[in-house]
Amino acid sequence: MNPPAPESSASAPKTSVLEGWTLREYSVVASTNLVAAGLPVWEAVRADTQTAGRGRFQRSWVSDQGGLWLSAVVPAQPPAANVLPLVAGLAVCDALRAAGVQGLRMRWPNDVLVNDRKLAGLLVDQFSPGVAVLGIGVNVSNQPELRDAGLKHRATRLADLLPAPPSLEALARLLLGQLRCSVNELLAKGFSALLPRINPLWGGARLVELDLDGAVCRGRFSGIDAEGRLILSTESGGGAAYAAHQVRHLAEI
Ligand code: BTN
Repeated sequence: MNPPAPESSASAPKTSVLEGWTLREYSVVASTNLVAAGLPVWEAVRADTQTAGRGRFQRSWVSDQGGLWLSAVVPAQPPAANVLPLVAGLAVCDALRAAGVQGLRMRWPNDVLVNDRKLAGLLVDQFSPGVAVLGIGVNVSNQPELRDAGLKHRATRLADLLPAPPSLEALARLLLGQLRCSVNELLAKGFSALLPRINPLWGGARLVELDLDGAVCRGRFSGIDAEGRLILSTESGGGAAYAAHQVRHLAEI
């Protein structure tokens, strides 16, 4: 994707330095990922609301007041670039656990679920070579089901899971701190150092259906290998490993 035209914003952001990041905070933007597209690495953007929040598969992402809408710009040279979505998922889970959330699991590649409902989603964009934008949406005290009734039984929020959810500022700090640590660890030690912490997050092996850009394939998903490929065992006893770009969609069945 070509770098988008820089986003114009009605008001100047509040800027602060925290956990090794420069954070720019807006009241409203179209999408924090698009604002972050023009920024250097280790800068981040948070907005109170997004008017055109973007989800995976060109879906829209409900971004109402009270949720955490955050984008972080990180270095993304190969081979680390391919596994950034998985590493970002780990960082989000670590941050949410530190905030007190229990019973977290990930649905490949990086949906964060509690009780099979989506608490957080990630969208990784690469607008220019060597740099990635990690976009993170966490439902906190917002009410996404008021905008999309279909989310009533599919989404959850920190307000439903914790007696007192953290403030958006505290949660942004936790997330950015974990992201900085995880990405630094990836760059220093490689993906295999993080793999033992990522694979338990899938919550055990489960039956899935993969859309391999047209062909559909069923089997048991048991985790990720050291190259970041999804491992699938088929009913016939065979096995296959798929790179993320080969899998258009994974459905748990
Ligand atoms: C998904 O699960 O489909 C991904 C959702 C990602 C939403 C976040 S909110 C902050 C950032 N800005 C966006 O426009 N999208 C991501």
